[in-house]
Amino acid sequence: MTGNSQALDENAVRRAYARWARFYDAVVGPVTDVGRAAAVAAVNALARKHVDTHGGDEPMSVLEVGVGSGLSLPGYARTTRITGIDLSTDMLDLARCRVSERALGHVAALEEMDAGALTFDTGRFDCAVAMYVMSVAPNPEAVLDELARITRPGGEVVIVNHFAKADGWVLWFERKLERVAALIGWHPAFGRERVLNHPDLELVMEKPLGLLRIFTLMRFRRRTTDATS
Ligand SMILES: C[S@@+](CC[C@H](N)C(=O)[O-])C[C@H]1O[C@@H](n2cnc3c(N)ncnc32)[C@H](O)[C@@H]1O
Repeated sequence: MTGNSQALDENAVRRAYARWARFYDAVVGPVTDVGRAAAVAAVNALARKHVDTHGGDEPMSVLEVGVGSGLSLPGYARTTRITGIDLSTDMLDLARCRVSERALGHVAALEEMDAGALTFDTGRFDCAVAMYVMSVAPNPEAVLDELARITRPGGEVVIVNHFAKADGWVLWFERKLERVAALIGWHPAFGRERVLNHPDLELVMEKPLGLLRIFTLMRFRRRTTDATS
């Protein structure tokens, strides 16, 4: 990132998404649907395997960090058990309304929490998901550590994000936009290298999404031996 980047601390994130909440579904929702659909499809494919292995009585536990207004929630298979967390009360309120209006019984809990300091036990979830969160979170490395920690060995971490281009005019534009990161609520020049190389996460799939390839889906397998211990 550039030296001109505006800091997005926790309060800046809360303020940004208090502003976004009213427009998020109508403005950001359609542009980012492609990534949510791909991530939810990846989770649902894992859920089908989970049912094959464990039978239908034991739902696959999924933690979605930065769940926002809950746009993804209706798409998850009913054989999953979803816990969502977010820093923003305003966004969580929208997610709670969606769950109650649409009677989404597979959503077990929605809680206000920092994805970089989760209160869940180690290995508690079969799968963890972060859609468009890594370039928003004040400390993405801490978020990645936490995603790896709460996912059981052999489970998956699914990430969708926009990553900065390696070069060219788009990168130039992304760097210019960094100056207003706190206002828009995300870091446009967020580099893909910042989510690679976690010792406990093995990249098993990476796929650019949509015609413009603005977003990328990444799937990581939680290693069965703890490289950090
Ligand atoms: C761009 S929105 C994405 C929302 C949702 N995942 C979606 O696909 O529509 C980013 C969300 O991440 C949340 N967020 C950012 N940093 C966070 C953190 N450290 N812990 C929890 N939530 C965070 C924001 O409050 C916001 O709701």
